[in-house]
Amino acid sequence: MIRTKILSLLLLLFITLSIFAREGMWIPILLDRNIAEMREMGFKLNTDDIYNVNNASMKDAIVLFGRGCTGELISPDGLLITNHHCGYRQIQTHSTIEHDYLTDGFWAMNRNEELPNEGLSVTFLVEMRNVTDDILAGTDTISDYTQQLQKIKENTVIVTDQATEGTHYEATVKPFYEGNQYFLFITEKFTDVRLVGAPPSAIGKFGGDTDNWMWPRHTGDFSLFRIYADSTNKPADYSPDNVPYKPKKYFPINISGIEKNDFTMVFGYPGSTQQYLYSDAVRQVVEQRDPDRIAIRDVKLFIMRSAMEADRATRIKYAAKYASTSNAWKKWQGEIKGLKRLDAVNVKLEEEEAFKKWVNTNADRKEKYGDILPTFEKQYDKIAPYHKAKDYYDEIIFRGTDAYRMFYQMKKIVTKKEIPEDLSFIEKHFKDYKTEVDQNVFVSLMKLLYTDIAEDNLVPSLLDISEKKNDKKHLEKLYSKSILNNKDELTNLPGKDNIEKIIRKIEKDKLYRFFDKTRNYYYDSIYANYNNIQKEIDRNYKTYVMALLEMKEDEKLFPDANLTMRISYGKVEGYEPADGVEYKHYTTLDGIMEKDNPEIYDYNVPEKLKQLHREQDFGNYTNDKGELPVCFTASNHTTGGNSGSPVINAEGHLIGINFDRCWEGTMSDIMFDPAKCRNISLDMRYMLFLVDKFAGAGYLLDEMEIVR
Ligand code: ARG
Ligand code: GLU
Repeated sequence: MIRTKILSLLLLLFITLSIFAREGMWIPILLDRNIAEMREMGFKLNTDDIYNVNNASMKDAIVLFGRGCTGELISPDGLLITNHHCGYRQIQTHSTIEHDYLTDGFWAMNRNEELPNEGLSVTFLVEMRNVTDDILAGTDTISDYTQQLQKIKENTVIVTDQATEGTHYEATVKPFYEGNQYFLFITEKFTDVRLVGAPPSAIGKFGGDTDNWMWPRHTGDFSLFRIYADSTNKPADYSPDNVPYKPKKYFPINISGIEKNDFTMVFGYPGSTQQYLYSDAVRQVVEQRDPDRIAIRDVKLFIMRSAMEADRATRIKYAAKYASTSNAWKKWQGEIKGLKRLDAVNVKLEEEEAFKKWVNTNADRKEKYGDILPTFEKQYDKIAPYHKAKDYYDEIIFRGTDAYRMFYQMKKIVTKKEIPEDLSFIEKHFKDYKTEVDQNVFVSLMKLLYTDIAEDNLVPSLLDISEKKNDKKHLEKLYSKSILNNKDELTNLPGKDNIEKIIRKIEKDKLYRFFDKTRNYYYDSIYANYNNIQKEIDRNYKTYVMALLEMKEDEKLFPDANLTMRISYGKVEGYEPADGVEYKHYTTLDGIMEKDNPEIYDYNVPEKLKQLHREQDFGNYTNDKGELPVCFTASNHTTGGNSGSPVINAEGHLIGINFDRCWEGTMSDIMFDPAKCRNISLDMRYMLFLVDKFAGAGYLLDEMEIVR
């Protein structure tokens, strides 16, 4: 009797625990359906504290950093924190063999030493609004889909123009729920953003690509920047006269400790998810798309790695390129495993079965929604070969070589028939470039393109190559003879002010012509078809998601991530990665010392850090066991773009910054598993310890608000 009671109590407890959201990336102005649950999980504030147009709220302390990361304000003087890997390009750009900030770290010891960064911007959200009615106005009487999209485009221009009239703001409109809703985003963009501090890579990238996407993790993945504004606190391009920006809101940093089951919330810019994918699409990811892209990058990474291991200068040049190539490559591998473990294709098939039943119980629905699934099936069959070709071209042609990027610049000159005034891109291009490496990548990847893609998707120019007896030699010659890899010739182009002559010279280049032909072929014969099918697929998704919203009216469904501000919430918790293994929710400095190995680049702990550890010189940044915490995991649903996002506690204080996800949970872009999906964050106490004790830049702590 008592036993059954306890059992049912336990069961009830289990159910209540497991229905807590965790999954989902929510729209900050639509938290009404979430807030009760958030508070039940421990959150002590209200929706107004998160987003408010009239008063300062958390959203005013958060920026889109560059084009794909998040950052947040941590002082009234515009000090901003994001990940080391988000500031990596900037840190690298300022690095040379003499001032190697990647290796040694960088710390401005006063404001004059902060380093400006061309091309870097941070964007604040001023306001967001649901503008579905305005955007869809007049579309219901248009039957042609392309014309509908055209009308949406026109409406968008009207809405964004109106929203920004008479201001220095920018505005965009983005579709949600696959085009069933539209939101307007009014933003303010700052372009004078200076580098303030970054730990050495041996800390900021500790564990490197070996530990990337994995737990237990010990990476001090942060860098500090400062936003500058003009004397009226408005955005202005870099000028020595600019002054530190005064934000409406910044985050206090809480160092009182992080316990298992504490409420956490991540507030930032998740880039993209695909929660509503049809079963065949998931199958294609697992069986075709991920394996293809992994195999291509295997080849490229091997070439870069060999060159980097052989030479220190090459290591610096290719550090960022290697990291960005290996990142998705490793994620895709985790994604395949995770989707297989979840049996994702069959889970989707079951969901689709339930959907079918729901549709078939009602004649109206049958009429409106009955075709959706069979249409998907046909569409995905049709798109599979084009997707394959697209993946190959993306990986090999468009993203494969540096030479292609230079081709692209030259193509612009040829098309516009003018030499750009600023030719500094040439210098920058060759700063991080080595001919042997890029040539090797070109030759090896082109051979893959040639052997793996079905004949009818081949480029005519590729067929020319295959007719040569020894196509490796031919490819090598094609590459090495080209001006696209010749810095001197390219730099001297503007010397000849005869544009016709320059264009003739560029167009005579065989590699240029090869890329041009390949690119045209791709757009005419592959992308055009792909895009037509994809458009139809998108249209079908719109109806599908509309139906799902109707079917699951009582459930909360979140819209796929689309690089707009979102909130995820969950708890501090570890997980079980495999049978018989349990992971704790946090790591400490002791773990860094355990991983220490001067022989291995990724695990070479700086002497200064070892010394601080020996002396146990941890300041007041320890936990109650006297350990120095480094990273922690929590069950917040995050994705790429959430890097640098604030991890916020129940009081709205900053306790961490998000930088990664656990390997066993990387399939969460497609299917979330509450048992295994964890985000990985840097503990703010480790950041403070590093700035204070390691860097000796404790003066920066004076402008922060540190609370217990
Ligand atoms: N996996 C993280 C993200 O997706 C970190 C990437 C940078 N770190 C690296 N070792 N490549 O961005
Ligand atoms: N590191 C990722 C980023 O740059 C975040 C990890 C993820 O994909 O969840 O946004």
